[in-house]
Amino acid sequence: MNISIFGLGYVGCVSLGCLAKNGHTVVGVDVSESKVSQINSGIATIVENDIDEIIAEQHKAGRISATQDVAQAILNTTISIVAVGTPSSEKGHLNLDYIFKVAENIGDVLKSKNEFHVIAIRSTVFPGTCEKFSRIIEERTGKKNNIDFAVVDNPEFLREGTAVDDYYNPPLTLIGSNSEQATKLMVSLYDQLPAEVIVTDVKVAEIMKYVNNTYHALKISFANEIGNVCSALDIDSHKVMDIFCKDKQLNISPYYFKPGFAYGGSCLPKDLKGLQTLAHDLYVSVPVIDSIDKTNEYQKQRALSMLNKYFGKKIAVLGLSFKAGTDDLRNSPSVEIVENLLGRGFDIQIYDKNVHIAKLTGKNKDYIDSRIPHLSRLMVSDLDKLVQESDLIIISNKELEFVEKLENVSGKTIIDMVKINSPKIISNNNYRGINW
Ligand SMILES: NC(=O)c1ccc[n+]([C@@H]2O[C@H](COP(=O)([O-])OP(=O)(O)OC[C@H]3O[C@@H](n4cnc5c(N)ncnc54)[C@H](O)[C@@H]3O)[C@@H](O)[C@H]2O)c1
Repeated sequence: MNISIFGLGYVGCVSLGCLAKNGHTVVGVDVSESKVSQINSGIATIVENDIDEIIAEQHKAGRISATQDVAQAILNTTISIVAVGTPSSEKGHLNLDYIFKVAENIGDVLKSKNEFHVIAIRSTVFPGTCEKFSRIIEERTGKKNNIDFAVVDNPEFLREGTAVDDYYNPPLTLIGSNSEQATKLMVSLYDQLPAEVIVTDVKVAEIMKYVNNTYHALKISFANEIGNVCSALDIDSHKVMDIFCKDKQLNISPYYFKPGFAYGGSCLPKDLKGLQTLAHDLYVSVPVIDSIDKTNEYQKQRALSMLNKYFGKKIAVLGLSFKAGTDDLRNSPSVEIVENLLGRGFDIQIYDKNVHIAKLTGKNKDYIDSRIPHLSRLMVSDLDKLVQESDLIIISNKELEFVEKLENVSGKTIIDMVKINSPKIISNNNYRGINW
């Protein structure tokens, strides 16, 4: 395929060489005259393992060239990859000026191009950028996005130092697209790579790099804080983290990675507090770890602010314990929500098939007696009746029976804290998830 690449920096130069090596004919476009002439002399514009040989070899084979002539690049190619810089502005925002300048340049040429053209944004951009990019082109051309042309998001996952290897072995290939025609072309561009191709919504693709890189920064900072605590205790932090990484069920796994409600129960809050106190006593600063509980409290506040406007309505809380399948009420976020709402005069009834007030004992009973002393008056055992008599239903744990009951209910507002496993309920007009 004939491809143009806007921006001949790290991402652009690696894409140029690697796409050519896979048999495509690629033309680079850059505002820098020196980068254009470097490519036209078979010289890479960056320092990176293997790239010098690839650029020299592909230049010799006639598959790569560069130009400052946008019209030549657009009119002779089917896909344009945009890999210009998106630096931080002084206030920390993303500076998208280079991106939108490219949109203007491409728009001016697309006006006179009759074939379908795909623009793939490879730079790291904020959600909404592809939409704005396509609006700029629509305004300049009078053409329609996803009909005459398509702007898709195709984020780059390479790391400098191993960029060529990362290009050929990405963790996945991500394409955010609303055009079938564009998706087909993009998929064929990467058909020689071993990675899974994921086609998704444009905005999902746009936010992925931020999510990935923020998580990578969090991983490093978490490991460093654990290391700092361990070294203060003369414990080998590398042995600790090696063992930590061996747990592929709970630690290095999708488990606990679903947006939803606050955590609770008898272990997480207690052990987090324990580690914080240990660090404090050792005079070791752990700002990331210290912030975890604050985020958790915020999630409960978020739930409460969603519920404020339902004052005066009949509210059903489905699930009181901190998760399905247990009667443990200690530090259950649901208990805190109920306690807060009751304190403000909300009309609440609760159903939880695992919680039998008379059978609660020990710390569990002490906890609930101290938070909601008259809990027994609020608990009901007939889920059907509760649902029928309520205006608002709050789902706060993932008991399977809730799916069956709520799938056949209509006209009730449902607020879901845990993302119930039912597309039918989720697609209901009166349904709202806490953060989806
Ligand atoms: N460097 C990385 O490791 C990496 C990895 C993944 C994603 N990214 C993202 O990819 C994007 C590019 O990063 P980079 O490191 O390659 O940037 P870079 O600064 O190395 O290269 C950007 C190039 O774009 C050119 N340019 C600017 N305006 C232009 C225009 N109007 N027309 C044509 N060319 C223009 C510049 O002259 C420069 O050569 C950024 O959004 C970055 O966040 C970078």
